[in-house]
Amino acid sequence: MKESGPLNGAIQISGAKNTCLKLMGAALLTDEPLTLTNVPRLSDIRTLSVLLESLGVEVARLQEGRVMVLSGRHITSRRAEYEIVRKLRASFNVLGPLLAREGEAIVSLPGGCAIGARKVDLHLMALEKLGATITLEEGYVHASAPGGLRGAVIEFPFVSVGATENALTAATLAKGTTVIKNAAQEPDTVDLALCLTQMGARISGAGTSEITVEGVDRLHGATHEVIPDRIELGTFMIAPAICGGDVELIGGRRDLLQAFCEKLEATGIEITETPSSLKVRRPNGRVKAVDVTTAPFPGFPTDLQAQFMALMCTAEGTSVLEETIFENRFMHAPELIRMGADIDVHGGTAKVTGTKQLAGAQVMATDLRASVSLILAGLAAKGDTVVNRVYHLDRGYERIEEKLSAVGANIQRVSGHE
Ligand code: UD1
Repeated sequence: MKESGPLNGAIQISGAKNTCLKLMGAALLTDEPLTLTNVPRLSDIRTLSVLLESLGVEVARLQEGRVMVLSGRHITSRRAEYEIVRKLRASFNVLGPLLAREGEAIVSLPGGCAIGARKVDLHLMALEKLGATITLEEGYVHASAPGGLRGAVIEFPFVSVGATENALTAATLAKGTTVIKNAAQEPDTVDLALCLTQMGARISGAGTSEITVEGVDRLHGATHEVIPDRIELGTFMIAPAICGGDVELIGGRRDLLQAFCEKLEATGIEITETPSSLKVRRPNGRVKAVDVTTAPFPGFPTDLQAQFMALMCTAEGTSVLEETIFENRFMHAPELIRMGADIDVHGGTAKVTGTKQLAGAQVMATDLRASVSLILAGLAAKGDTVVNRVYHLDRGYERIEEKLSAVGANIQRVSGHE
């Protein structure tokens, strides 16, 4: 296959997967329909739809899947089965809303990407604070609060996006006031709070480290637009950085990725914000090596560490990438090494020395963001790269081969259509 030269053109950024998954769970809180627009067409979204349907939520997709209407009029089951929850960690977030609405929820312990232990103790601690009784039986969490949840002060020892969001959704229907301290500040959490507010919840402080929720008796339906996917945005910003060129990311916003943008600029990339997009251009030859440490928002996202590593494999100089969120998130490193990269991993730190030219190879995708880092490296490499197990990609990137081909990348799906 011909090598990818500089990339030029525009890519439309889809709605945010991680946000959309949490918004869908909010439909469990009300007997009226919740309409979501700008929904991404991804297998993770379909997996959660199946789970919600198993609980009695009616899920309709309109306008080629871009609009989703979720109607939780009749909850028919309070049990989220292992068979579905294991495929998608975010599905553990049905626990909070189901418990808040029904007074009981039985949810399998989750699975998801194999990037670390990924415990749920903080989720359970938060719900216990809200008055739930929790037991663990045969791999399932049984949570009950027959008299309803009660507002409480919940202080997280460290930031957890999932636990903050489970606590936030549950607290909307609790009696009294809940204060969540050391809360996640991710744009996903802010968007969830906005949607819940449109449904009648009383929330203040979302986007700061302390969120206050005044419980209400009931929530109602709403229509809400999913924010752009900042991880898809960051991934496609790296494409022209690694291949050269000038690409416009339609729907891109700098405030979603400030820390990432600063690091990318430090490598020598130019970023220009317009009212409706971000434009990314590589003005010179190779990028410069830049160190990165992942952190909760507003820090550098863990979900962009693998893609940034691919870029650093081609940079001039040596960079140190430190992963602080997940303990096993360098699984892409051995695969990048197969492509000629010089990477030394010690615990949560990777030392990457850039090489002038990566070489195409057969590589294996191990998780969602790792797989896309191999695609980025493959675009910059001499010769063909074959990425196996691309189903990981379809969990989080909508028609990635079409979006990248549209700006001049040479990429084809050989097999593995959904
Ligand atoms: C995390 C990322 C989020 C990313 C998502 C998908 C952070 C802070 N979170 O969210 O940006 O989009 O993965 O890849 O960057 N933990 C516990 N006990 C718990 C919950 C979490 O020990 O009950 C630990 C996790 O193992 C992890 C850290 O806390 O080390 C942060 O996890 P958390 O934010 O909850 O993970 P996700 O919600 O999956």
